[in-house]
Amino acid sequence: MTFTEEKKKKIRLLFVCLGNICRSPAAEGIMAAVVEKYDLQGVIEVDSAGTSGWHDGELPDDRMRSHGERRGYDFCSRARKFKKADLHDFDYIVVMDRQIFDDVRAFAINQEQKDKIHMMTEYSRQYAHHDHIPDPYYGGASGFELVLDLLEDACEGLLQSIRQRYSL
Ligand code: 4NP
Repeated sequence: MTFTEEKKKKIRLLFVCLGNICRSPAAEGIMAAVVEKYDLQGVIEVDSAGTSGWHDGELPDDRMRSHGERRGYDFCSRARKFKKADLHDFDYIVVMDRQIFDDVRAFAINQEQKDKIHMMTEYSRQYAHHDHIPDPYYGGASGFELVLDLLEDACEGLLQSIRQRYSL
C-alpha cells in the first residue's frame, strides 16, 4: 500500500457481543453518533458482529431499540456472525465481556491481531468500576439502561483514545 493509500484508509472499528442484537449494535449506533459529533465520519468506520450467529440477519432486539430511541438513537444494523477475516479487516475489535474476548482471541493468528482486541470497558471514564458490559438479554429495563449508560461513556473514551493515537 502506498503512503497516500495508507493515509486515505479509514480506521475501522468492530464491536462484538454474543448475539449482535443488544450490546454490540447499540455500541455501533452510539459510536456512529460520537464519530459524527466530532465530524470524523470520513475517517472512522463502525460495524458490529456476534460470536454466535444465532440471530443472523435480524434487527436489534426491540427492547434495545426502544431504549435507544428514547435517547435519540436509531439502532438498525443487521446481525451477522463474527468471522476470522474480521481480525484482518478491522483496526479495533472491541468486545463486551471476557467470554467474547477469549472467543475472539482464539481466532487470532499473530500478535498484531491479538493487539487489536480490546474490552469496551477499557475506555470507560465515569464507569471505570465496571469491567464488562453486562448482557441485558434475560433481564429487565434497568439492564438495558445500564448498557446504554456504559456504552455512551466508553464510546466517548474510545473516540478520545483514537484521536490521541492518530492525532485527529
Ligand atoms: P447480546 O445479547 O450478546 O448483547 O446481543 C444477547 C442476545 C441474544 C442472546 C443472548 C445474548 N440469546 O441467547 O439469544
